[in-house]
This record gives sequence, C-alpha cells and structure tokens, in this order.
Amino acid sequence: MNGKKKITIAIDGHSSCGKSTMAKDLARTIGYIYIDSGAMYRCCTLFAMRNGLIAEDGSIDESEFERRMPEIQVSFKLNEATGRPDTYLNGECVEQEIRTMEVSSHVSPVAALPFVRAAMTAQQQAMGREGGIVMDGRDIGTAVFPDAEMKVFVTASDEIRAQRRYDELVAKGQKADFDEVLANLRERDRIDSTREVAPLRQADDAYVLDNSHMSIPEQNQWLIELFDKLTS
Ligand code: DC
Repeated sequence: MNGKKKITIAIDGHSSCGKSTMAKDLARTIGYIYIDSGAMYRCCTLFAMRNGLIAEDGSIDESEFERRMPEIQVSFKLNEATGRPDTYLNGECVEQEIRTMEVSSHVSPVAALPFVRAAMTAQQQAMGREGGIVMDGRDIGTAVFPDAEMKVFVTASDEIRAQRRYDELVAKGQKADFDEVLANLRERDRIDSTREVAPLRQADDAYVLDNSHMSIPEQNQWLIELFDKLTS
C-alpha cells in the first residue's frame, strides 16, 4: 500500500445495513479518511428542525430553507476517546443529536430536496478531491464520485437491518419500538430510491455485498480482499 496512489472508495446501499461500520473499519485499516455522507443530510435536517423550517405535519418551508442553505457547513473531527470521527454542524458537535428517531423520521424528505443535495454534494466532492477517502451513502458511486475506483453496494434483508438499528438505539439508551424502526426504515428506502435527484441505485460497476448472514469480521475481510485486488 505504501507509496501507492490513494484511491476513492464509495460504499452505497440501503438504510441500516452496516455501511458506516464497515466503511469506518476499512478506512482505519488502510489509513484512509472516512466520511459519513448520511450524517451531512442529518445535519441539514437538524438545522431545519431547529430553525422552524419543518412543521408538525412534516411539511418543509422550502423557499426559506433554500435561502438559509449557505449557512450550513458540515465537518468531521476525530474523537480521540472513541477513535472515530464526530460530526460538526457549524462548529458544534451534533454527533448524538443527529442519530435520534426524530431526525431519522425527517431526513429522507430533506435529502430529496435538490438544493440540499447540490450543497452537500459540493461539500463532499471538496472533501474527497485528493482521494484517500472512504465515503458511505446512497449516491456516492453514482453521483458524487462516479469515477471512484472501488464501488460497493451493500444490502441485507429489511428485518435484519431493522434489528440492527433497534439494537443500536437501545445500546445508546434511546427508547425504541421495533415495528416503528422497521416502518421508518422501509419508508426511508422508498423515498431514497424513488426521488428524482440522485436516487439510491446500484452503480453498474459496483460490487454487491449482501451481508444479511455475515459477521462484521467476515464483511471486513471481504472488503479488504476487494481493496487488495483492485489496488494490486
Ligand atoms: O445513512 P443514513 O441513514 O445516516 O442516511 C440518512 C438519510 O440521508 C437517508 O434517508 C438517505 C439520505 N442520504 C442520501 O440521500 N444520500 C447520501 N449520500 C447519504 C444519505
């Protein structure tokens, strides 16, 4: 690996299929920077919620949101204690707040707004300009970095994904209901896959990883083998 040109790695797929865990582990193993693009859409959602741009019924004040979009700057900083990057919205650490069910339930409509996608895509492309990154999301291999040298499309069954998200929320001490988590995940997949701008879809040149019945060490091994094959 040493001295070799650093490539761009795009990991896309459905909600809660473990993309971020595998992307973080891969980045750490190969010495690349990890970027969680979903966290960026979550930051936009949190900003909109805090500024009264999302009404009780879920409707969004699009014109005001678009006007205020230039105020949103997302960055990542390594948390020395956890060894993982934390997400910052305009300099404030919002890592916990962006993972709540409330943000999760509003994020897909926000991520479908063309002006939100344009702003976040530009920030993502700026972060990845030099290569040496692992970015996970929904449209990284199709829209953000269509020329990425390594593209992976991850999936797993709905129930297994919902169980993982449920376990994650419970482990963090948050209140969770399995059926609600499953319904939220299906609804997000539906919105993410059917939106007009950069919908979730597998890039033609992506390698598919169905990790329904894989352990974390097994999927990490699968990724490393693919990385070694593509960079050797
Ligand atoms: O991966 P996640 O659950 O944190 O993503 C949050 C939402 O953001 C999800 O509903 C889809 C959207 N998203 C997107 O549209 N494009 C990306 N590149 C990443 C996430």
